[in-house]
Amino acid sequence: MDSETLLARITDYANRPNPYPLYAELREAGPVVRQADGSYLVGTYHEIAALLHDPRMSADPRTRTRGATAFKPPFLRLDDPEHHRLRALTMRPFGPPHSPGRVDAMRGEIDQLTGELTESLQAGRQIDIVDDFAYPLPVTVICRLLGVPREDEPLFRAWSDTVVTAADVRPEEDATGDATERGAAGDQARREMGQYLVDLAEKRRGGPSDDMLSAFVNEPDPALRLTREELAETAVLLLIAGHETTVNLITNGVLTLLRQPEQLERLRSEPGLLPRAVEELLRYEPPVHMRERIPLADFDIAGTTVSQGTSVILALASGNRDPRRFHEPDRFDPTRPDNEHFGFGSGVHLCYGAPLARIEAETALGALIPHLGTARLVQDPPPYRQNAMLRGPRHLLVQL
Ligand code: HEM
Repeated sequence: MDSETLLARITDYANRPNPYPLYAELREAGPVVRQADGSYLVGTYHEIAALLHDPRMSADPRTRTRGATAFKPPFLRLDDPEHHRLRALTMRPFGPPHSPGRVDAMRGEIDQLTGELTESLQAGRQIDIVDDFAYPLPVTVICRLLGVPREDEPLFRAWSDTVVTAADVRPEEDATGDATERGAAGDQARREMGQYLVDLAEKRRGGPSDDMLSAFVNEPDPALRLTREELAETAVLLLIAGHETTVNLITNGVLTLLRQPEQLERLRSEPGLLPRAVEELLRYEPPVHMRERIPLADFDIAGTTVSQGTSVILALASGNRDPRRFHEPDRFDPTRPDNEHFGFGSGVHLCYGAPLARIEAETALGALIPHLGTARLVQDPPPYRQNAMLRGPRHLLVQL
């Protein structure tokens, strides 16, 4: 196996519809596989779990020896204690399920929005699951939660696209200058998006309303207040996270169920299985395929020494299909027991939007499933988005 080109093949757009055979090759090649550019790829469940919990691994791209950026990242890519402080200050509305958090209180609104979107689902029609359903729902919800006008979507969609394109995992491209240019465009888009969100928050100063930007800017306790820069970075992170991930979970759910009519039928007759089906989707077709970490010192992982400052790509989607951890991992099984997947990551950066994403996916799929009985996929595989790290269909045409 040519391990030198494995990351290049995984990120190659031609393999976007089905990267899973490449992940199997990666796991065969060893827990830790060194790439031609010196970076490492890790695809086995237990090693990924260990590394996500290892304080010697940094999430901060400024600790990279090559390709480091000067721009201070949002807390998703900061280390403790700074990461912990910002995470704790900004996660209050995202309580666990059934807690009185703001997110749980949004169930009614999410139901109502889903109901409105379902009205377009008439038998005989062709719809795009992405544009007509899976995209508008999470975008509208994150706008309401943050306090961003829904009609500004074309504006922040363009920034969001640029930021996630710049943050994608790619084999080293410094020789061509591409990566540097893309990085600069990403930093610029983050700056503009941050300024836009700070301006929105400022308008709410002194006139508190029921949204997160207002809560950030009207925080009475100085110890709990965010700086302008922290507010900008956190609001950008939340808007992008609420915008680019749940769409793929809902779309991947429809795709998986239309490919496996017996599972669709099963969920139609047993809707109580839906929460477990969503967990299984997060394992089987996760929206986030890879994350990067950087060793803060040289150390040994499963017999390979990784060196300080070198990029280590953790292939979460490969860990989710590791046969050493999951029985028959390539089978979609909504009754799978002990399903501790990496769909929301693991360790200190575990996704705190998970309760919201789960409510949205359960509501959306619960409303769609009754309409999918006689539906068929117009194109399989569907066209995919360019991004290898945040992977999902760009469109999913379905004939109802
Ligand atoms: C299906 C939808 C979603 C998926 C699959 C997902 C996945 C993930 C993953 C894998 C991470 C860990 C990243 C890492 O370890 O480097 C993460 C972190 C995060 N997610 Fe999500 N996410 C989703 C939805 C959301 C939503 C709706 C929000 C908020 C509105 C959100 C906010 C965050 C935040 C703030 C972090 C950083 C946490 C930290 O660094 O402590 N996510 N997400």
